[in-house]
Amino acid sequence: MGPEDLLKVLEGLPLRDERLLVGPDTLDDGGVFQIDRDKALIQTVDFFTPLVDDPYDFGAVAAANAVSDVYAMGGIPLTALSVVCFPAKGVDFDIMRRMLLGGFEKIREAGAAVAGGHSVTDNEIKFGFAVTGIVDPSRIVRVSGARPGDALVLTKPIGTGVLAHGLKAGQVSDEARDLFVSSMKRLNSAASRAMVDVGVNACTDVTGFGVLGHALNMARSSEVSFVLKSGRVPFFPEAEDMAAKKVCPGGLNRNRDYVRPYLKSEVGGPRVDLLFDPQTSGGLLIAVSAEKRESLLSALKDGGVEEACVVGGVVDRKDPYLIVE
Ligand code: CO
Ligand code: CO
Repeated sequence: MGPEDLLKVLEGLPLRDERLLVGPDTLDDGGVFQIDRDKALIQTVDFFTPLVDDPYDFGAVAAANAVSDVYAMGGIPLTALSVVCFPAKGVDFDIMRRMLLGGFEKIREAGAAVAGGHSVTDNEIKFGFAVTGIVDPSRIVRVSGARPGDALVLTKPIGTGVLAHGLKAGQVSDEARDLFVSSMKRLNSAASRAMVDVGVNACTDVTGFGVLGHALNMARSSEVSFVLKSGRVPFFPEAEDMAAKKVCPGGLNRNRDYVRPYLKSEVGGPRVDLLFDPQTSGGLLIAVSAEKRESLLSALKDGGVEEACVVGGVVDRKDPYLIVE
């Protein structure tokens, strides 16, 4: 669901609790529950339908995507519960085993334990995890907190939505598939560690709302405006071809509708269309002060996050929250 509809549905429901440092009434990636002075739990859940054919890969992507919200908030994953929807008949259970194996191995790679799960009979396969992480309450990274003068750093290329869509239609080369699938399987752990070590002002992971939808959530919560340089955003190979061919996953136009009232775009074309592309297991979008920008970029490089780059900056709150150049 889009954030606008979701916030409308949640309005007036009994959600407030004093022990929550971050509750469901914000646009943050997960909820945060304080345990004591220096410990808080981050909780988040994510599951979805297969976007790649290989069940092992799909499981790994679903797990990397689910733990990502913990990383975006600067936390460390502790436990995960699997959420499985699977048909009672017609699909071999070996497929489910391989999907779970991909997911469980990825959760282990994240240093967390699969503590259990729940499965439901459903004609459509869906898979994901509810993840619990831990964070020092004084070091939570939120979507709010971006300040004028900050640089915006993105840690993975964009285009998984159009590419997964094009892949189903047989329009994506094997080389291009391997690149974006291995990126979706990559944990945001190293990027998160780098950002926590350096100290940043705000962060979110780029997933279903696309670069601009998540940028809007950050800019709005921080009461600032973002200027994004479309020429600086890295894209996966063949993503621009897909966008030029108008290959369009369902969420792309939904994201455009959500963002449009708050956007001033001085450019157009496939590169701008891709900024609305819904991502799965995308990178982190980080707001970092000008002084710490270079330390963050070198910490990311040292951590093996090769593709991280500056894609724009934060300015004083203007009429549109987002400006694309
Ligand atoms: Co998120
Ligand atoms: Co999420």
